[in-house]
Amino acid sequence: MTATETALRHELSDWCGSGGTEEFPYDGVIDRLRAVGKHFLDEELLSLLAECRTLLLEADAGDAGGVRAGTGGAGGVRDAHTGPFLDVLLDKFDDRYDYPSYTALALLRRGAPGHRAGWEVLRRHRDRTVLLLLADLIAFERLVLDGTPCDPQGMLPGALLLNKRLRLAVRVMEPAALRALDGAVDPVTVAETPGRTPAGELADAVLRTTTAGERLLLRTSVQPVYVLHDEYLFLRVLQSFEATFAFMSATLDEAVRTLRTEQPGDAAALIAAVADVLRESLPLFSLLATMQPESFRLFRQFTEGASAIQSEGYKTFESYCSTPARARLDSSAFLSVPDVRGEVLAGRETVQGTWEDVISSGWLTEPDAAAVRAAALQLEAVHQRWKQTHYRLAVRMIGTRTGTGATEGVPYLASVISQRLFPAMEKQPAVG
Ligand code: HEM
Repeated sequence: MTATETALRHELSDWCGSGGTEEFPYDGVIDRLRAVGKHFLDEELLSLLAECRTLLLEADAGDAGGVRAGTGGAGGVRDAHTGPFLDVLLDKFDDRYDYPSYTALALLRRGAPGHRAGWEVLRRHRDRTVLLLLADLIAFERLVLDGTPCDPQGMLPGALLLNKRLRLAVRVMEPAALRALDGAVDPVTVAETPGRTPAGELADAVLRTTTAGERLLLRTSVQPVYVLHDEYLFLRVLQSFEATFAFMSATLDEAVRTLRTEQPGDAAALIAAVADVLRESLPLFSLLATMQPESFRLFRQFTEGASAIQSEGYKTFESYCSTPARARLDSSAFLSVPDVRGEVLAGRETVQGTWEDVISSGWLTEPDAAAVRAAALQLEAVHQRWKQTHYRLAVRMIGTRTGTGATEGVPYLASVISQRLFPAMEKQPAVG
């Protein structure tokens, strides 16, 4: 055992000794994980980390039993991030590794506004999260360009590819920065030539504004399974999409509720906002296309069992548009997200269903019905582009290999392209 490993074990034992009230040694744990990959952490360290988690659970149970909540026995405050962090870290050890734990979604969701917070609050949160994730990615890639890479650092890409990566990250950040970061980007330049804002300056502008909580989140939410540099990019892109899907789901829920209010036509603006944010996110796929296919093929050996087919955010957004056909609900698309499937079967209200309902009840005027339908068809068109780009990326990255979500891979993705979010709206005229 190296001196660093021994020191880490001591730090963890000391932390346990403090009843979990001392600062958790995140840095030591994350450094070790990024040096070897989550799949290769040694059993002894994992067992020690599991003991830390048990201690935390027992201490929390003690708090619930009457001691002041959130405090340790010694009177110090226990950090509420540690439990979820250890759950993500120990997913393979616990044999419950999947897509949500791989992408550390439980950590990313901490501090998020409630589902019904209102679409502008939700979009601000999505913008902030995407800016943070991609600013962190840029900072990580710049270390390589500066000649000081940090782990994971296997199969480092060349400067040409890295610079392209930075430009594409900026492309996704610019629209969010225009809304959420005063003065950081020039609207005229962005309109003329997207992606030209200097990446380093934009990332620094974001990172300068981070809180201690956000820095902890960024530090702890990249838990690669292996030692290859490009997995960092993969995780940050998946997480950026997940932040986007969360916004889309909650805003479509709001659109459904709006269709039943005195101003049902206001739902059109909400659906249009969802379409816009998904459109702005499309370059995330171009960004991910800078991942080296040979790197991906190596590290995906250790991501088996985690696939975005398990993305609850994506399936929630889909099922707020219209109720998926029974065949899709009974296929691996929805069997992989049992909670979302249960909500759909329990009768989730959808944009399309409510739109039809309020038209037939005479509640929706003809112009409003047309505006809602037009916005829905915009979203449909962007989603079709999303699926086609995703398909092409998968062809490039995995070719004829099977998916990590137990499908046959690319043929599965080809088969879902013909599906529509709003099948009835596409077929029918605006007012029946
Ligand atoms: C290297 C890049 C990627 C490859 C090779 C890839 C491949 C695949 C494959 C083969 C599937 C089928 C399920 C399976 O067996 O795993 C799938 C499903 C899916 N992927 Fe990806 N994917 C990639 C990137 C992404 C990204 C960045 C996202 C964004 C979150 C994403 C979202 C999804 C979703 C939502 C599904 C489920 C689609 C459905 O059930 O209709 N994928 N992907």
